[in-house]
Amino acid sequence: MSEKKRPVAVIDSGLGGISVLNHLLTQLPNEDFVYFGDTANAPYGSKNTEDVLELTVRNIRMLAEKYFAKAVVIACNTATGAAAEKCRELFTNMPIIGIEPAIKPAVTKSGKDDPKVLVMATPLTLSQEKFVHLAEKYNPNADLIPLPCPGLSQVIEEGADEKKVNALLKKLFADIDCENIDAVVLGCTHYPLVSDSISKYFAGAVIYDGGLGTAVQTKRRLSELNLLENGTEKGKLTIINSSEDKNFEILARRYIEICS
Ligand code: DGL
Repeated sequence: MSEKKRPVAVIDSGLGGISVLNHLLTQLPNEDFVYFGDTANAPYGSKNTEDVLELTVRNIRMLAEKYFAKAVVIACNTATGAAAEKCRELFTNMPIIGIEPAIKPAVTKSGKDDPKVLVMATPLTLSQEKFVHLAEKYNPNADLIPLPCPGLSQVIEEGADEKKVNALLKKLFADIDCENIDAVVLGCTHYPLVSDSISKYFAGAVIYDGGLGTAVQTKRRLSELNLLENGTEKGKLTIINSSEDKNFEILARRYIEICS
């Protein structure tokens, strides 16, 4: 198979990466995609760096060997933080694009010198040193409020029942001065799937996530490496997961529909 015809792999711990896949499908309509959710090992956010690194290496190797992926998009902030750098060293013949919390636009585009920025992410993402440096680098005056959201990705994996999502958000935001937040960063790819519920709490804030930026970056990398599929036919989407849960594909396709 010619290199250009090979699929782009998109990986996450579960369904969260669908929020990135949606942008990829729009940006790259002629590419074939293999979406992989590591449901047998989810959630990643409460694991340690070494475990998430090991799982991510294993998953990328499987997608390269079994599906002949020409590129991998790590559509998971937690896995990008824990594993992207190391994976780029290990898989040198394949571009690896990772998503990161959209801290830069959130701290620089609010129109304020010292914006209050709420960063919702998994415990593991927020524990990473890199995360603090990102904010310092782009706007040291920004007031960054990290909010670990344990449990939120699981509720979304189960279908995002509105009552359950709202009950959990109410608890998570109990100590947050929501009215005075200027920007909210959805630093986990699951959260954009419930952004309507989240945005209700933040009338005065702009909500950011890194999905579109990651899709644009993927297109740029494929183009630079002359790996873009140049046919005009709509690409094929394959959806798989590590626990062989049949419901996974049904839910994934539902989330694709809701978001598009
Ligand atoms: N979707 C993942 C992220 O972007 C993590 C969810 C999980 O904890 O598994 O960080």
